[in-house]
Amino acid sequence: MAKVTLTVNGRSVSGECEDRTLLVHFIREKLGLTGTHIGCDTTQCGSCVIHMDGKSIKSCSILAVQASGSTITTIEGLASNGELHPVQAAFKEHHGLQCGFCTPGMVMTAVDMIGRHGGNLDEATVRHELEGNICRCTGYHNIVKAVLSANAEMHGGRQAAE
Ligand code: FES
Ligand code: FES
Repeated sequence: MAKVTLTVNGRSVSGECEDRTLLVHFIREKLGLTGTHIGCDTTQCGSCVIHMDGKSIKSCSILAVQASGSTITTIEGLASNGELHPVQAAFKEHHGLQCGFCTPGMVMTAVDMIGRHGGNLDEATVRHELEGNICRCTGYHNIVKAVLSANAEMHGGRQAAE
């Protein structure tokens, strides 16, 4: 067994797990943060995306012990003071979800994307950067609209695609 210590959504947490435990399982099973979903376990679908030290990663692609000492944000850590994060609000407004299974990963990927591009985000870039996130409900059009709308709201960038 290994001890893992993390800062998660602003809180210091620690727990024990097997050396082979994936970070996504640690987050869901040891920390009880089940908003991070598992669609494949093999880095294909993107439903497990979180932020580690400020960058989006697929949390099934890393062991929990490898993440020890890092700072993590999960979907549960995005809203503040009862207010949705602008990306969450945009997904809601533009109907960027159907069943919602892929949504936490989509939102975490989008938040990182918008932060990195500093407002210079166009539709082609959004579609390209969402390639690692699979939506089985095929709601991509509204997802892209939501990301562009959030980008415009947060950075005064381009408006949502029509
Ligand atoms: Fe991690 Fe699918 S569960 S990419
Ligand atoms: Fe259902 Fe994307 S909304 S998988």
